[in-house]
Parts: sequence; structure tokens; C-alpha cells
Amino acid sequence: MSDAPENPPITPEAVDAAVQAAIDAVAAAADTAELKAARAAHSAEGSPLARLNAQLRNVAPAQKAEFGKLVGQARGRVNQAFAAREAELAEAETAARLDAERVDVTALASRARVGARHPMTLLQEQIADIFVGMGWEIAEGPELEHEWYNFDALNFDVDHPARQMQDTFFVDPVSRHLVMRTHTSPVQVRSMLERDLPIYVLCPGRVYRTDEFDATHLPVFTQFEGLVIDKGITMAHLKGTLDHAARVLFGPEAKTRFRANYFPFTEPSAELDLWHPTFKGGARWIEWGGCGMVNPNVLRAAGIDPEEYSGFAFGMGIERTLMFRSDVQDMRDMAEGDVRFSEQFGMVV
Ligand code: DAH
Repeated sequence: MSDAPENPPITPEAVDAAVQAAIDAVAAAADTAELKAARAAHSAEGSPLARLNAQLRNVAPAQKAEFGKLVGQARGRVNQAFAAREAELAEAETAARLDAERVDVTALASRARVGARHPMTLLQEQIADIFVGMGWEIAEGPELEHEWYNFDALNFDVDHPARQMQDTFFVDPVSRHLVMRTHTSPVQVRSMLERDLPIYVLCPGRVYRTDEFDATHLPVFTQFEGLVIDKGITMAHLKGTLDHAARVLFGPEAKTRFRANYFPFTEPSAELDLWHPTFKGGARWIEWGGCGMVNPNVLRAAGIDPEEYSGFAFGMGIERTLMFRSDVQDMRDMAEGDVRFSEQFGMVV
């Protein structure tokens, strides 16, 4: 074909030959790229058929209609052949691609993993259950807290070291006196202001301190705060309540003891220690939290008459509790959210 004369005369044979060549090329095209090449050779400008078509200009008027029809029908057949093959190849290529990309959903289904609830969530719920079981209510407060609730109402001096930058996340602008709460104790004040007496509340929640992120510190951690305000409440009630909680959480052999300490919002105040025979490192005392009798200044700040009512409060870290209870060596494991950590605690729902 390439050496066909520049202006081939239109004859039925020449037209048939051009059509046949085109149709053979179409049939031989194995993919859309080859079909594109066949179109360039047999149908596009410069192809024998296009050149025959161009010759119509030179045909004598008497033969124009006849030759016009001949060439027109030939082009129609060739175009049709191209269109049909193009559709066929496109369909085959789509089918091949879908086949190659096929995903075996049944295989995936058998590999789907069942998650696990986070041990911190489970422990927090278990702690809440202990107190709800004694008739207490769950109290909540904001994590972005006003300095007054976090410090002033709790009887902290203006220059108490905990207010300084090394412990507290102060929130801009400083003039608004907002902090990320450094403990759950502000919920004591909120509970006293919002609730009717007597008060028996537990507040589990997140707290924030500018601590390092290491094996025994997290800048964001969790505490549970307890508060009781009633008539005739003594330190014996506090001790009995904490003994009960310790035994439910750690087992019947668990013991607690108070060590004198200072907190601005309790008087007297104590550090709470916990003893258990199977703690890692043998039977020993560990420091669990703080507690005491609610300071009369705190009662007054909340509008409660200390002559009529007294109360106790305590606060413990839940990450620390989980560490001792389940022998977790590194607190960071509790914060990182790796499901392999959670799975070790079972699939409790
Ligand atoms: N808020 C204290 C802390 O985070 C813990 C605490 C101590 C809470 C004594 C109390 C308490 O309710 O009475 O270190």
C-alpha cells in the first residue's frame, strides 16, 4: 500500500482492496494500541481509502454519484469495523483489569481482627461501679478549668508552687485565668456548689500537667476523685471506704494505711499507701494517692457551714492503679493505643 501511486484511480477493485486491507488490520489488532495504529494506516488521512476519497474531486461529473456511493459505503464499512473492534477490545481490557484487581473478600473476612476495649476504660468503669454500688453518684467537670476552681476555692495560696509553670498548663490569654485542670479536685467544688447535701460523688477524669512523657509520667493522665459531705463524717468513714475499694480492686488481702501529709484542701491530710502480698518486688507498701478531711475553708468557699457538715475527699491516679494491679512496667504503653497492649487484658466487652 505504501508504494501506491499518489493519485490512484477509483476502481471497484482498488476500493475493495483498501476495504479488505483495513478489515484485515482491524481483525489482527490485539489491543487498543494496535487498533490505533491500524486506524492511522487504513482510515486516517494519507491512507489508501482517504486518498481514494480525495480522488472524488477529479472524477467526471457523470460518474460522481456512482463513485461517491462506492467510496462512501466503503468508508462506512471500515468505520463500522473499527467501532465494533474498539468496543470489543475495550470490554476485554476492562474485564482483564477487573480480573487482575479482584479481591478475595472471603479470604479477608477470616483475617478480620476483633478489637479490645482499652484496659484504662475497663478499670475506670470498674472503679465507678464500686462507688455506684455504695449509692454514690458520678460527677463531672470540665478539663479546661477556671483557676478559681482548680486552685483558689481549694485553699491554694496565690504563690503555691503547683501554680507555677513547671506543673500547670496555663491557657492564653492569661487574663482569663484558664488552666488545663491539674487534678480532679476542682470537681469537689463544683459538686458542692451544684448539688444538694448530703453529697456522695466519684469523679473519674483526665488531668494535665507539664510532666515528661516517660515510663512513670504522662502529661495527660487520669484520676478518680471521691467526695463525701454529710453530718458526722469522720476519718474512720474515709478509711473504711478506701479499704473496701482497695479490696475490691486488688483482692481481699489488700491493706491501706495513712501517712501524715499536707494538702491545702484537706485537714488533716494523708498520703494513702496500699499493701498487697503479690506486688512485683514482693509484699510491700506503695503510694496510691492523697486523702483527708475536707478543709473548713473549702466548705466555706462552697457555702457549706463547717459547724454543721464535715466530709472527706481522696484522689488517686488510675494509670498508677493499673500499673500496680496488672504489673505494667511502662505507662507509655497505656497512652499509645496499640491493640496488642489492650489484647493482653482479654476481650471484655
Ligand atoms: N488532688 C491531689 C493531687 O492530684 C490528690 C488529692 C489529695 C485529692 C488529697 C484529694 C485529697 O481529694 O483529699 O495530687
